Amino acid sequence: MTNPNELQIFLDIATEAAMAAGAVLREYWGKLDAVEEKGRPGDLVTIADKQAEATILAMLRRHVPEHAILAEESGQLGDRSDQYLWAIDPLDGTTNYAHQYPMAAVSVGLIIAGTPQVGAIYNPFRDELFRAAKGLGATRNRQPIHVSQTAELSRSLLVTGFAYDRHETRDNNYAEFCYLTHLTQGVRRSGSASLDLADVACGRLDGYWERGLSPWDVAAGVVLVEEAGGKVTAYDDSAFVLESGRILATNGALHSNLSRELLQVPPMSSWDQVVG
Ligand code: IPD
Ligand code: CA
Ligand code: CA
Repeated sequence: MTNPNELQIFLDIATEAAMAAGAVLREYWGKLDAVEEKGRPGDLVTIADKQAEATILAMLRRHVPEHAILAEESGQLGDRSDQYLWAIDPLDGTTNYAHQYPMAAVSVGLIIAGTPQVGAIYNPFRDELFRAAKGLGATRNRQPIHVSQTAELSRSLLVTGFAYDRHETRDNNYAEFCYLTHLTQGVRRSGSASLDLADVACGRLDGYWERGLSPWDVAAGVVLVEEAGGKVTAYDDSAFVLESGRILATNGALHSNLSRELLQVPPMSSWDQVVG
């Protein structure tokens, strides 16, 4: 087991890296000459993503050269099954960033023996820093945070997102979005999974679900939600599996209700009857 002192050191490294990368994002804001597509239509990458990632990698190499890294733009560096694996999203919310919609963050997570245990998420546009480490609590700008207490779906505000493969599969979250919009006070779509998790952790939002995610999108955020008193599982309330790409993260009070509804979402074709 990693002791609390070590976790604190790793949390400080994660924080330093996230804030340095955040400064890079601010530097390139509104100054992009080109925006590339990575593979799937709409899956964008910019010089800001690349430079922010290079900044984080340089910092990790300096502080923890023996650790493995999984970074969105560079891929796997070192052995994925290592005891210590950093999961890096240098710019979570690239589509927002490319459109100058200021909802984006740097997400730096540390997975220890397969479990996310340290996370720093920094939104340079609101100067908001979210930090958490297993057993050490969660903070926003160094002040403790806690999830909301909303226990009824009809009183809840949720958030979700849509993966870049949404044009290729019917398992694209559209039906879930419609159904939960119907049952709640609203479902937001921020375009930044790490900020969605941070917003659940600090009680602005009551729950979040999404499919098609990568480990770097959520590794830091799951630590935040858990340390803020929330719950993170698979859709069916079974143990969360980082590699599955599916997550249900809530304040805990809503968890079983939201899980149950996610498992009985009516098909899109039935919507004429539902609202008729
Ligand atoms: C995306 C964002 C978005 C989520 C997508 C992610 P990116 O990350 O987190 O909210 O819905 O699934 O891929 O591409 O901006 O780093
Ligand atoms: Ca991302
Ligand atoms: Ca990204």
